Amino acid sequence: MADLQALVEEIHHTLKPRTGEGKVADYIPSLARVDPNKFGIAIIDLNGTVYKTGDCDEAFSIQSVSKVFTLTLALGKHGETTWNRVGREPSGSAFNSIVQLEHEHGKPRNPFINAGAIVISDSVLAGHTPREAIGEIVRFVQYLADDPTIAIDPEVARSEAATGFRNMALANFMKSYGKLQHPVDHVLGVYFHQCALAMSCTQLARAGLFLAANGKNPITGHTVVSSQRARRINALMLTCGHYDGSGDFAYHVGLPGKSGVGGGIMAVAPGKASVAVWSPGLNQNGNSLVGSLALEMLANKTGWSVFGG
Ligand code: DON
Repeated sequence: MADLQALVEEIHHTLKPRTGEGKVADYIPSLARVDPNKFGIAIIDLNGTVYKTGDCDEAFSIQSVSKVFTLTLALGKHGETTWNRVGREPSGSAFNSIVQLEHEHGKPRNPFINAGAIVISDSVLAGHTPREAIGEIVRFVQYLADDPTIAIDPEVARSEAATGFRNMALANFMKSYGKLQHPVDHVLGVYFHQCALAMSCTQLARAGLFLAANGKNPITGHTVVSSQRARRINALMLTCGHYDGSGDFAYHVGLPGKSGVGGGIMAVAPGKASVAVWSPGLNQNGNSLVGSLALEMLANKTGWSVFGG
């Protein structure tokens, strides 16, 4: 679509004045000091053409967007048995909630809430030391994005570990139910490092492209997952990718998407394109406020919603 570049610029121009809105994550200093006015958009279509604008090439902390990549890795290692350990239902509660876990005997609702992602980190750890598992995750994301420069921000990883008391509680709680196979500190080491991956919108959109193209990266020709698996990961992103705001995101945007508290959202228009947006101000559910609005405008103007144009 030739006018996609004009569209990303229009979206950026329209929403840029609102970038101060929302609340920037402040639980660690390296996120708290990010300029709230940063705003980037990148779209990659199935021909590999990139349409981008704003701060689209500046790396930011992808945080929970990483949960899509580790889920893909875990499914590759353990197949459908992954679902014995984590559910596939929307949680209807906050990303770091502990309440539901007790009711459900330590089995997290889905792989995108923190508890579920911690179980997935545990399954990525199988047969590895934490250092090897972290290396595997980084190399996998580099492979998906076809970009060997992607790396973890060590300061973010350190701060996650220093302040991650809620995640420690979740992990210990699950360990008490026998739901983690490795030592809690090993599992959390992996989880905290995956959250600290630093990527730009352009890199993130490239990394998500296989999900828009039936599991095969159309640029590199690599088959990452089967088309069935890509479809299913997309289904999970649609129903669970925005925590307690997933219904609202489906209503307004209508695309599978995954958010992170760094203000990034990766979204997939199946058969069309992969999209990444970044704006650090978050709404009450911990999802990028302006990023969500940008994706809503994009879906409205392109007719890309999976529910119809
Ligand atoms: O684990 C945590 O709570 C943080 N690293 C944030 C994870 C995250 O991005 C949740 N999503 N919105």
